Amino acid sequence: MEPEKPYYASIMAHFKKPYWVFLFLLFTVITILSIQMSTESILPFQFFRVSGSPKPDDVADPGSCAGLFGELPVREHVMSIKEFGGVGDGKTSNTAAFWKAITHMQRFSNRGGSQLNVPKGKWLTGSFNLTSNFTLFLEHGAVILGSQDPKEWPLVEPLPSYGRGRERLGARHISLIHGDGLTNAVITGQNGTIDGQGRMWWDLWWNKTLKHTRGHLVEIMNSRNILISNLTFLNSPFWTIHPIYCSNVVIKGMTILAPLNAPNTDGIDVDSSTNVCIEDCYIESGDDLVAVKSGWDQYGIRIARPSSNIIVRRISGTTPTCSGVGIGSEMSGGISNVTIEDMNVWNSAAGVRIKTDKGRGGYIANIIINNITMERVKIPVRFSRDSNDHPDDGWDPKAIPKIKGIFISNIISLNSTKAPEIAGLEGGSYEGVCFKNVTVLGLAPSAAWHCEFVSGCTNAVFPLPCPQVQNNGSSTCCL
Ligand SMILES: *[C@@H]1O[C@H](CO)[C@@H](O)[C@H](O)[C@H]1NC(C)=O
Ligand SMILES: *[C@@H]1O[C@H](CO)[C@@H](O)[C@H](O)[C@H]1NC(C)=O
Ligand SMILES: *[C@@H]1O[C@H](CO)[C@@H](O)[C@H](O)[C@H]1NC(C)=O
Ligand SMILES: *[C@@H]1O[C@H](CO)[C@@H](O)[C@H](O)[C@H]1NC(C)=O
Ligand SMILES: *[C@@H]1O[C@H](CO)[C@@H](O)[C@H](O)[C@H]1NC(C)=O
Ligand SMILES: *[C@@H]1O[C@H](CO)[C@@H](O)[C@H](O)[C@H]1NC(C)=O
Ligand SMILES: *[C@@H]1O[C@H](CO)[C@@H](O)[C@H](O)[C@H]1NC(C)=O
Ligand SMILES: *[C@@H]1O[C@H](CO)[C@@H](O)[C@H](O)[C@H]1NC(C)=O
Ligand SMILES: *[C@@H]1O[C@H](CO)[C@@H](O)[C@H](O)[C@H]1NC(C)=O
Ligand SMILES: *[C@@H]1O[C@H](CO)[C@@H](O)[C@H](O)[C@H]1NC(C)=O
Repeated sequence: MEPEKPYYASIMAHFKKPYWVFLFLLFTVITILSIQMSTESILPFQFFRVSGSPKPDDVADPGSCAGLFGELPVREHVMSIKEFGGVGDGKTSNTAAFWKAITHMQRFSNRGGSQLNVPKGKWLTGSFNLTSNFTLFLEHGAVILGSQDPKEWPLVEPLPSYGRGRERLGARHISLIHGDGLTNAVITGQNGTIDGQGRMWWDLWWNKTLKHTRGHLVEIMNSRNILISNLTFLNSPFWTIHPIYCSNVVIKGMTILAPLNAPNTDGIDVDSSTNVCIEDCYIESGDDLVAVKSGWDQYGIRIARPSSNIIVRRISGTTPTCSGVGIGSEMSGGISNVTIEDMNVWNSAAGVRIKTDKGRGGYIANIIINNITMERVKIPVRFSRDSNDHPDDGWDPKAIPKIKGIFISNIISLNSTKAPEIAGLEGGSYEGVCFKNVTVLGLAPSAAWHCEFVSGCTNAVFPLPCPQVQNNGSSTCCL
């Protein structure tokens, strides 16, 4: 069989001193692969050929988000923050300058669009809003710094699909950079930086004095045609990038960093949004690198805004207490047609994590996870059921999520401590779960899959899966 040699070599490259147990393991794996591997394509559909998505003709390069947001738009009116009284000394507040700039530039939304340049320097500011047909452009060496005064992150209404602030009841702090009801807005530049200086907020969280839910670094709501690219985002108070109720969103070429212990500093949270493409990002943070969500319990069920048609590819990074990619636990509006591929995760608690609970309702369907490499990830694949957090007492215990069609293929996990764990809810099994060419190495000989309320199939998997997903000779397994 063709792939044996490079496969063997790529595993060997990770181990300096192979010993005989390891070699034995490896040959077992290769033997299983040789027996079971089929040559058919594992993908049940072509992602970009689904109805409502761009047609193949529109996709310049199938391995790129270009089909969703092509060329960077050229804006007719280009101005610098300096023209609005901005001072880039790291001390002077630029909140008023950004407000003046945006207020001025709004009038160009339907007259050729506008671009606000932020030159080299340190630009301290409170929260500001973006506008339509607008580009915020951070030049090389430009750093936007988040204000250390909580009043500069004013309170806004809770999101309807959450019914309250995610962390505290009632209103929540607005994000540092905010957009609502936009079309065609871009945040980009020459790898400039937006630094939320979140330390103050993490302290409030740690010492339990936080009064209102922390703000995101960037939140875009009710918008379409959004591009965020080629920048470095640091130290978000809370989740870093949060598109919610949006469509046609591209996030690309980003570096997102927060201290590994900074609470809930998720990299990117796609929430109740459709046609989203995320690629080529490096993310290191205190929570999931990328998460897909769609609202919380009875509020999410009522608003019923799903997340669908989402591609996440070529993401790498680490998060010691959370996962490379997380789906849920807030998933009450439904999540479907998600493809996650070509990811590299290390030193993390989990690689691929799906979280649900009673009361969530909604569904998770048609999830493709392909070509993930993990190193020192404790539990490479973990689907669980007990998130055990609800917005209030109004959740419906009979609202059980429906989960169907999760295709996991071409996974190699080195130095893991646990085999895959899949625990569905009673009456809400993980159905149609397929594992193909999944190899988890480094486990103790006693390590075994843990399965409850799951049905599905496996093909070329090591170690031996639980009976619920064993391929009992079926030829239609994992097609
Ligand atoms: C943005 O620009 C497009 C094309 O120039 C125009 O059709 C649209 O109305 C503009 N949007 C807004 C909100 O002004
Ligand atoms: C920004 O938009 C939000 C609503 O989305 C609004 O509450 C807030 O006042 C706006 N901020 C500024 C500075 O205009
Ligand atoms: C952007 O800057 C960050 C932080 O300095 C750096 O790690 C990253 O490699 C840079 N990205 C590019 C594409 O130069
Ligand atoms: C909690 O953190 C805030 C923000 O850093 C700080 O002002 C306050 O003194 C801290 N309180 C305690 C009890 O540590
Ligand atoms: C990102 O930066 C590269 C190199 O500077 C540039 O060619 C590319 O067009 C930019 N892409 C986006 C989507 O901003
Ligand atoms: C998901 O993809 C399927 C095709 O595989 C398509 O029929 C369906 O409409 C898509 N769902 C959504 C919500 O876009
Ligand atoms: C798998 O993903 C890695 C990035 O993590 C990429 O370099 C490699 O080309 C991908 N392999 C295939 C077969 O696409
Ligand atoms: C199995 O998956 C690994 C990791 O992605 C890949 O390197 C290898 O080529 C795959 N094997 C086959 C037979 O597809
Ligand atoms: C896995 O663990 C072994 C033994 O501790 C170590 O020698 C090897 O470098 C580790 N490999 C990776 C990829 O972490
Ligand atoms: C395979 O067989 C086991 C034990 O006989 C059984 O528990 C399991 O449900 C079967 N799996 C499938 C997918 O049929």
